[in-house]
Amino acid sequence: MASDTSETICHTDSAHHVRARIVSHDQVAEATWRIRIDCPEIAAQAVPGQFAMLRIPDRTDPLLARPLAVYDTFSDGVGIRYADFIYLVHGRFTTALSAARPGDELTAWGPLGNGFWLPPAEHLVLVAGGIGQTALFALARERLGKARYGLPHRDPPAARQVTFCWGARHAGMFADVKDFRGAGCDVHLATLDGSKGTKGTVVDLLDTRFAGGIDAATTRIACCGPEPMMAAVSRWAHARGVPCAVSLETPMACGIGICFTCVARIRDADGGWDYRRTCVEGPIFDAECVEW
Ligand SMILES: Cc1cc2nc3c(=O)[nH]c(=O)nc-3n(C[C@H](O)[C@H](O)[C@H](O)COP(=O)(O)OP(=O)(O)OC[C@H]3O[C@@H](n4cnc5c(N)ncnc54)[C@H](O)[C@@H]3O)c2cc1C
Ligand code: FES
Repeated sequence: MASDTSETICHTDSAHHVRARIVSHDQVAEATWRIRIDCPEIAAQAVPGQFAMLRIPDRTDPLLARPLAVYDTFSDGVGIRYADFIYLVHGRFTTALSAARPGDELTAWGPLGNGFWLPPAEHLVLVAGGIGQTALFALARERLGKARYGLPHRDPPAARQVTFCWGARHAGMFADVKDFRGAGCDVHLATLDGSKGTKGTVVDLLDTRFAGGIDAATTRIACCGPEPMMAAVSRWAHARGVPCAVSLETPMACGIGICFTCVARIRDADGGWDYRRTCVEGPIFDAECVEW
């Protein structure tokens, strides 16, 4: 089945490899940090859902860069110059990164991936699990007319309403929820332990929030989080006939289409499937096309 929610375009030709100074670096939730880097080449060009491969220079452990979604971009008053990333301390790279300080440098390669291109939707429902909100925030701002992205600026149709549903293990994991509220999103939270919002998973939250039904003709879903969660959200959307785009977070080694570590099984128009490289043909795919 052909995807109508993503462009399968390789963006590596227009990506930049830069050394970027860390401007700010703050802990924003449990084991979660927000880092701003000075990288005008990447920041000015990035569109919602794209990512950059980041690496700590002059280190061999870890040797390979890691992908992080571009959370948002900011101007210095003259032009778009800074890119923010929010990351969960997880393994070797993110542990080492959490010790970096403003003034230190990173190497960054981006923007990479296809990014979101959702057709018009009166009501956009963003669904995040864990640290998956990072791929969705710029999309919310763009569709609510709060920011424009890309070079030249792209101009997607505005959404009348953006609902943001976010599930996490417990209340301490939510980072910068205020950003989504400030952008104008209707925010709903769920925690597994019930410490904030609906007690249960983000799918339980969707069940509660849309208990009265959801208008499949005017609604689209964009989703990012752990794979089982995205599979469950895809099933939820499919059962209601709501188009859904997912941002896959497959592990990546090169980020530019060479190594094939990032492949996902994506259905073809003839009903079969083939491996697609998430880094260049994704990370955004039509959920209907993903073989979970
Ligand atoms: C397009 C994209 C965007 C991303 N954006 C963000 C972001 O904004 N914020 C953020 O915190 N993370 C993000 N990630 C995930 C992040 O890149 C990985 O978690 C990365 O591996 C962390 O590096 P690390 O060295 O700290 O952990 P690693 O040492 O690489 O990993 C530790 C353990 O986790 C496993 N692992 C690694 N990656 C994954 C994965 N994707 N799924 C399941 N298991 C995995 C490894 O096999 C290993 O066992 C993104 C991933 C992709 C592909
Ligand atoms: S990460 Fe190397 S091909 Fe995708």
